[in-house]
Amino acid sequence: MRVLITGAGGGVGGALAARLDGTHAVLPCDHAMLDITDARAVWSCVLAFKPDVIINPAAITNVDRCERQPDLAWTVNAEAPGTLAAAAERAGARFIHLSTDYVFDGRKGEPYVETDPTAARGVYGQSKIAGERAALAGCQRAYIVRTAWVMNLARPGFLAAMLAAAPSGRARVARQTSSPTGLTDLVEALARMIQARPPGGIYHMVNAGQCSRRELAAEMFRLLGVEVTLDEVSVTEFGGAPRPDYSALRAEAWALAGMPPFRPWQEALAEVLTQVRPG
Ligand SMILES: NC(=O)c1ccc[n+]([C@@H]2O[C@H](COP(=O)([O-])OP(=O)(O)OC[C@H]3O[C@@H](n4cnc5c(N)ncnc54)[C@H](OP(=O)(O)O)[C@@H]3O)[C@@H](O)[C@H]2O)c1
Repeated sequence: MRVLITGAGGGVGGALAARLDGTHAVLPCDHAMLDITDARAVWSCVLAFKPDVIINPAAITNVDRCERQPDLAWTVNAEAPGTLAAAAERAGARFIHLSTDYVFDGRKGEPYVETDPTAARGVYGQSKIAGERAALAGCQRAYIVRTAWVMNLARPGFLAAMLAAAPSGRARVARQTSSPTGLTDLVEALARMIQARPPGGIYHMVNAGQCSRRELAAEMFRLLGVEVTLDEVSVTEFGGAPRPDYSALRAEAWALAGMPPFRPWQEALAEVLTQVRPG
């Protein structure tokens, strides 16, 4: 299949391009190669490449930046998916759009399923909700893939921050609960989605289970055999943009479509930690 990937310089886009390369004819476009807010560039890229599938991990993913630059967040996260969806529709392609657990406000208190109503706490989540709607409205063969807390030590993120704090013996974490997800697990599921063609719609792609940031960090330090004291503070006290304190997801639609279950997050974490060199 011919697969066009946006945001291929990012964590998910880069890993996905590497995974699909060799199996499919992949066009990995990083930000410099294709700015998804440039409608003319999007249309000419799609019409020239003639993809069977367009995958859109490109986004402004820095939650605090979205709060500081709401116009940019809106253009990239809310409007550009509509352009990509329309181009996919015209090309007869399927459109897979990446989204987030931050589309939920956390009030449910138990894992969110795909049919739960969205209500985001900040600009990032609000712009992603609008992007989901634009993707579904623009393309009949659209998939929304919501994931959460993608674990990837190769890039800055929660796990890397915890590792950096480890030598001091102390780390501060926000009181948040969600569903940590191995980058490999997410990418494998996306590869399977391309091949298996489940019905269009919204899918949660997360490892099984849920945990707090403190539990995630504690499990990582336990596996690494490192002693670190974790100070848990409320999301508000932690600072920055508004975030849900609870956003665990359940991959219900994935299971209903007969796709193989996701393994527990602890197993994915253990695999991610094999990237840490001893000593
Ligand atoms: N990582 C997570 O924990 C997580 C959790 C939940 C959901 N998600 C979702 O998963 C998707 C992928 O996340 P990720 O972790 O791969 O994010 P990432 O590493 O921040 O990658 C996003 C990429 O999008 C690019 N980009 C930004 N604006 C663009 C534009 N106008 N045109 C083209 N490319 C643009 C960025 O390039 P520049 O840096 O050069 O601007 C970056 O390479 C996102 O939709 C995100 O909302 C991720």
